[in-house]
Amino acid sequence: MTIIAGNWKMNHDPDSSSAFFKKLQSYGPIPDNVKTVIFPTFLCLDSAQKNSSGVEIGAQNGNPEKSGALTGEISIFDFPKIDINWLLVGHSERRHIFKEDPKLLKRKVETSLSLGIKTVYCVGETIEDKEKGLTEEVLKKQISYLENFLSDENLIIAYEPVWAIGSGMPAGSKDADEASLLCKDFCKRDIDILYGGSVNSQNVSNYLSSGLIGGFLIGGASLDADSYRALIDAVA
Ligand code: PGA
Repeated sequence: MTIIAGNWKMNHDPDSSSAFFKKLQSYGPIPDNVKTVIFPTFLCLDSAQKNSSGVEIGAQNGNPEKSGALTGEISIFDFPKIDINWLLVGHSERRHIFKEDPKLLKRKVETSLSLGIKTVYCVGETIEDKEKGLTEEVLKKQISYLENFLSDENLIIAYEPVWAIGSGMPAGSKDADEASLLCKDFCKRDIDILYGGSVNSQNVSNYLSSGLIGGFLIGGASLDADSYRALIDAVA
């Protein structure tokens, strides 16, 4: 089963989110060999859930505290109460723009897994890391923070090289395979690895032949129902 996860980031409003799912539905059922998940904005969670028919819905971010004086935050503990059972943690934008540090990311993963939430932990090197030949070291370090949780079956790793995100320059399939092998090795098991970074319906099949990539985390190409469905069909 190949996972096709769509990260909408700060795009779509409740109306355009409903329109997306209605259009997606008009293409007919999702093929059985594909699992679809969309991570909309918090404001779109409700409308997405009401219209998603077969697409699972997840949260892009959450706070590991149960409650408290944390203006503007949303607790991970509240997601299962509204049937949100997927969470993204450690996306490059959270690490780099919002300066989320490994300690916080670890707590998010720990909380999320303790609640049985499918947790997609994003890792990936910057272009500077890559040029210095540090990819292996960076991935090892980012994964090492989760050492106590690596055997949890609800943990999924997304390999997203920072330089490939939104750049139109996807990683080559050989590089993605190599990163996947490293991540599996660091996790000491055959954990599901998603690849993300400028994936679209034209290049997605390049990553499927080795069997090392278990799915995709898609930004830009997940925003439009036509291109999201084209991805699903290319994979199925
Ligand atoms: P992209 O984004 O597909 O637009 O490169 C991927 C991501 O940020 O998860």
